[in-house]
Amino acid sequence: MLQHIAIIMDGNGRWAQARGMSRSQGHEAGTRQIAVVAKAAIELGVKILTLYAFSTENWKRPSAEVNFLMGLISKYSYEQLGEMQKNGIRLNCMGRIEQLPALVRKSVHKIEEATANNSQLILNIALNYGGRAEICDAVNAILQDPDRPEQITETNFRKYLYVPNLPDPELLIRTGGELRISNFLLWQLSYSEIYVSEKYWPEFGDAELRQAVTEFQQRNRRYGGL
Ligand code: FPP
Repeated sequence: MLQHIAIIMDGNGRWAQARGMSRSQGHEAGTRQIAVVAKAAIELGVKILTLYAFSTENWKRPSAEVNFLMGLISKYSYEQLGEMQKNGIRLNCMGRIEQLPALVRKSVHKIEEATANNSQLILNIALNYGGRAEICDAVNAILQDPDRPEQITETNFRKYLYVPNLPDPELLIRTGGELRISNFLLWQLSYSEIYVSEKYWPEFGDAELRQAVTEFQQRNRRYGGL
């Protein structure tokens, strides 16, 4: 069964460069691809799509690029609202959202509220997200919880993650050909199957998602057993 796919959307810059375009144009093309892949995921019966949009490490990029990405996220959420309502997509953002510019926080909160009752697909956007940061934030939340359990188990720890009790992704896709996890979903990816596509994110569409899912279905998942 394939309920949850996580994607590291890499290669916007290289895609643009190869076409003599600016990195910003690459990010714009990458943004348009989100709707394409979300729609394909729904058709494949996937219920949760988690996309790595901005990591806690991405602040190291030149400020013009960071600002462009922030503007894009806020613009995209408004522009896509109609399409999300039509397709039953619920937007949810995960990460250190409180550290984002007010404009971004406000627009994503608005869209989260407006789409809260949609149930075809949860579109989880990881924003100012880091896997280690999430684990530290969970531990701090436990320390501050007056009703915290006496002992931490894998089951009760999940309640303190950014999206409590989210089922783990069965499949992680990384576009752009690199073989790294890049601090994404460190807790949740323990047993995920990894699929790396040589395609850059702006060229990863319906056919590419289907191919990844077909390959996933041929994998033999043993979870440490035989
Ligand atoms: C990787 O390309 C991609 C990102 C840093 C962020 C992904 C962002 C988007 C697809 C657009 C904004 C997101 C939303 C939710 C609207 P890269 O710049 O690392 O490419 P490169 O490895 O070729 O340089």
